[in-house]
Parts: sequence; C-alpha cells; structure tokens
Amino acid sequence: MAKIAMLGSGFIGRFYADSLQGQRSRDKIVSIYSRREESAKKFAADYKCDHWTTDMEEAINHPDVDMVCISLPNNLHEAAVLACCKAQKAVMCTKPLGRNAEEAKRMMDAVEKAGIFNGYLEDLVYTPKFLKALASVKSGALGRILWAKSRETHPGPHSEWFWDKEQAGGGCMLDLGCHCVEIARSFIGKDIKPIEVMCWSDTQVKPIDAEDHAIGLVKYENGAIGQFEVSWTFRGGLDLRDEVMGSEGTIWLNSFLRTGFDMFTTGKGADYVAEKAESNTGWLFPVGDELNELGYNHMFADMFNAVEEGRAPQETFYDGYIVNAVLDACYRSSASKQWEPVKLDVWRGKEGVEKEKPLTSYNEQFYLIKEEMTHFGSQKLILKDKKTGQIVEKVI
Ligand SMILES: NC(=O)c1ccc[n+]([C@@H]2O[C@H](COP(=O)([O-])OP(=O)(O)OC[C@H]3O[C@@H](n4cnc5c(N)ncnc54)[C@H](O)[C@@H]3O)[C@@H](O)[C@H]2O)c1
Repeated sequence: MAKIAMLGSGFIGRFYADSLQGQRSRDKIVSIYSRREESAKKFAADYKCDHWTTDMEEAINHPDVDMVCISLPNNLHEAAVLACCKAQKAVMCTKPLGRNAEEAKRMMDAVEKAGIFNGYLEDLVYTPKFLKALASVKSGALGRILWAKSRETHPGPHSEWFWDKEQAGGGCMLDLGCHCVEIARSFIGKDIKPIEVMCWSDTQVKPIDAEDHAIGLVKYENGAIGQFEVSWTFRGGLDLRDEVMGSEGTIWLNSFLRTGFDMFTTGKGADYVAEKAESNTGWLFPVGDELNELGYNHMFADMFNAVEEGRAPQETFYDGYIVNAVLDACYRSSASKQWEPVKLDVWRGKEGVEKEKPLTSYNEQFYLIKEEMTHFGSQKLILKDKKTGQIVEKVI
C-alpha cells in the first residue's frame, strides 16, 4: 500500500486522486498540500485525507508519507523535487518534467544523487489502447517503424498560469508536445536517439506571448521520423490521435473523440461530458471511463509495482529530461526556421545506430518493389534488377 502526499489540489491533482483512490484501491492519499487553505480542506474532505497543509515541505515530511505526487504548476516542479530529495521520499512528477532541459536535468541529477525512486507521470503512454498498440509494435506486427505521429489539440487549458510563458515555460508545444514526443519516441524505440528537429509554431488566436499552435518533426538516428501536431486553438473538445506506420503495417488510435460512444441530447439534464468537451447538448462524444482511457490507472499501477519490485517504472525522470531536450530543440527550430540538433548531455540508449535500408530480395536476379493483384485478376510484380538497377514490370 502506497501512502501518498499530493502536492496541488487542482485539475490534475483531482484526476490523479480519483485514480489513486478509485475502485477498490489499496493506495491512499494521507496528506494534501495546496496553496490556499480552503482548497486544501476541500480536497482533504473529498478524498477522506486526514492531513492537509498550505506548507509544501510539511506535506512531504509528514511521517506517514512514503511517496510524493507532484501536481503543481510547471515552475514549481523543481522546488518540490528538491524537497523530496532532502526528505528522501519517493517522487512522481507530472508532465512536463521541467520548463526546459536544463531544469529537467537538475531534477534528474538530484533524484539520482539522492538515490530516491523517481517516476515521470506521462499518462498517455499508459492508455489501454497505447499499451496494446505498443505490444503489437514490439512483437514486430508493423515491421520496421518508419513514422509515428501524435496529435493533441483542444481549446486551451483551464488555469491562468498555463497562459503565462514564464510560469509555464512555453505554450502548447511544451504543454501538449511533451505527450506527443514521448508517444512517438516509445513507438520508434526509447533506445533510439532523437537527433534533430524541424518545427513551426505560431500564436494564431490567443493574446499570449507563447505559441498556441505548433507542428514538428523529430528525426531519429535509425531514420524513423516522429511528428507532432498540437494546439490550444482547436474547437470541438479534446482530440487525441496517434498514427504509426511500419514496413509491414499501420496502427491508427483515436483515444478521446469518436471512440464508439455517440450520444444526442437536447440539453435536458445535460452535465459533464468529458474533459474539455465544449458542449453538453446536441451530438456528443462521451468517454466511458476517463481515468482508464487516459492511462492514469495503468500508470499508477506501474509506479507502485515498480516501487514494490525495486525496479524503475516505464517512465522515469530520465525520460522527462529527454522529452524536454527534444522540445528545447523545437523552440530553437521554430525561431531559426532550420533543422536544429537535439542537445543531450546525458544519453543512455544506443549509440551510432545505422540508418536501416533493407532491400527485399525477390530472387537471385531481382529485388521486389511491389506485388499486387489487379482488378482484372492478374498478379503484377514490379522488380529491380540487382546488377543493372533497371526497373521492370511483370504480369503473371
Ligand atoms: N494529462 C496530464 O498529465 C496533465 C493534465 C493537466 C495538467 N497536467 C500538469 O499538472 C500540473 C498542474 O496542472 P493543473 O492543470 O492541475 O493546474 P491547476 O492550476 O488546476 O492546479 C495547480 C495546483 O497547484 C497548487 N499551487 C501551489 N502553488 C501555486 C501557485 N503559485 N500557483 C498556482 N497553483 C499553485 C494549487 O493547489 C493548485 O490547485 C502542470 O504541470 C500540468 O502540466 C498534467
């Protein structure tokens, strides 16, 4: 049983708490820190938590607490992590780990020096659909992964600090791109080095200094390409979609809108529909179990199992650091309009991976380019002569 201190009682703190104490969970939030007394008290009452405080260190140092869950604005993650190191308490931190790679690296170095458990709460690589898709990719069902695309767009976050570049560290590219980068990186292989990025970002709609829309390409050392599409200006709810293309197959994932649950209401009795839904009348796309569909249940199960088994979880502060480093390069590319290298002071994956270009041999003389059954019933082959390079077509 994990005994948790929750830091932050806002949007994600409550989603996490619903997951942590959901169903017949053994795990319990035993202390809550919130900036304002009334929020701390309300959270403590809602989640039957005995201890509340407006002093962050008091929550971390509470004698019953063995694990800390950071659900604070981005600019407060580092101070919270350092306090956990001081108290020698296991720590899990929401995304993005840092506002930039420098901050993330300081957090990673601190937890590793302190020798404490560290988990990066990237829920979208724990959704049931993602886990199943990843297992298919790992089993080779898609062959060599060539392209992994992830899209997260919605009408914008719900608290003021997100819209302030200094507190948040960036706009939608950092806020949503961190999910997308880790999704694509997981499909391509977390041991494959992201080497350079090309990115466009702009502020198209909102009166803010940060970007509200961005699209980026992340090139990996083995030749695979990651792609993200993120926006705080999308209308119509929370759009979460991934696409993976391999030499032997394809996966399309739609995690939130249009997932097979369509509902119409004139508005009578209309209430909460799903995260960031923009309407509660007309045709709606509710989500059956948001906690599960968004990966929170599987994520916390991995975190607590990892602690009990004395292993690292699927997502650690190191992963958070890599994601921040990729996004730092995206901000540089967006400004320079050039491909920019991903600067990694720490890299623990493979080095010097060759770009793969396997040629499919058809017989001794030819490589196979394509094989197809035509609508008029004959089998067509497009082949390349291994010696001359000539491309020929054969109808069998
Ligand atoms: N899917 C996800 O993983 C996901 C979703 C949303 C948010 N997040 C992350 O969770 C973190 C918190 O986001 P949120 O949406 O819960 O924010 P929020 O504004 O709803 O909640 C932040 C909480 O932090 C506490 N706090 C302490 N000091 C504060 C200060 N100086 N200013 C503001 N709040 C202060 C308050 O208790 C507040 O309730 C962010 O890092 C965000 O990126 C993750």
